[in-house]
Amino acid sequence: MRHLLEIDDLTGDELVHVLELAQTSTPPQVLSGKGMALVFEKPSLRTRNSMEMAVFQLGGHPVYIQSNEIGLDTRESVEDVTNTLAGFHAAIGARVFEHSKVERMAAVDRIPIVNLLSDAAHPMQALADVLTIIDEFGSVEGRVVTYVGDSNNVTRSLGLAVGMLGGIFRIASPIDYSFGEDDLARLRSAGGVVETMTNPYEAVEGCDVVYSDVFTSMGQEAETDIRLRAFADYQINESLMAAAGDAVFLHCLPAHRGEEVTSNVVDSPASRVWKLAENRMHAARGYLAFVIGESEL
Ligand code: CP
Ligand code: NVA
Repeated sequence: MRHLLEIDDLTGDELVHVLELAQTSTPPQVLSGKGMALVFEKPSLRTRNSMEMAVFQLGGHPVYIQSNEIGLDTRESVEDVTNTLAGFHAAIGARVFEHSKVERMAAVDRIPIVNLLSDAAHPMQALADVLTIIDEFGSVEGRVVTYVGDSNNVTRSLGLAVGMLGGIFRIASPIDYSFGEDDLARLRSAGGVVETMTNPYEAVEGCDVVYSDVFTSMGQEAETDIRLRAFADYQINESLMAAAGDAVFLHCLPAHRGEEVTSNVVDSPASRVWKLAENRMHAARGYLAFVIGESEL
């Protein structure tokens, strides 16, 4: 049974293969007559829509479930919910606060679990991120991807995916919001080069991609004011993009315009944010084609 809790649950070769499947124009109908449960503890625009459309394109039927409707871990335990859904569906996708919840679903081990964002990881985003970099540059190998802002779930998965494909990953975060040694060791073990710095201008020098995410992730809203102060020097604006030269701009979205990025960068010719959002669907389709159509055989 294959689960995707973080992008390095795939081998490097599997990641390359999933990205190839994401680019095929004739989706295999591997979900024909089957369902996929999509459980959400947090809001979503891109993840829900991309997953639903990917399931549909593979011939299946997506069922969206709000966690408060089923009482995840209140009305019924995560394990009981997982066992029940396993009787109806070919796979479960889940967006949760605590990463331990997707780990508990995977431990039931009856159908594939796909992490649709936890406090630790966002692997489906990372798939789309590297797909977009490949669309732009032909490959990730040797490309410099600079992430500016909070070292978070999106950063972790992106850094792993870039490393697995031979890219150079730079992170510019304030000291208090930087990865510790364990995270850096894991990123480095993925295979690429990881460089950390605190100065965003130094980090974007000569890079190919400038990547941004919100300063305050879902669930951290109580820290908004303190985070806005901590990240005041980490905004992606015209001045930072000028320092980045010809780099393209990516953001997982939603963007908090005026906080981590200015509107004129989101809407600039260097921005590939809408392409990235669309690629969430192609990446999801590629991964599901792999996990349902191939790895279960
Ligand atoms: N990037 C992303 O996961 O967007 P949503 O939160 O809208 O799903
Ligand atoms: N880091 C953000 C990503 C949103 C897609 C969050 O966890 O809210």
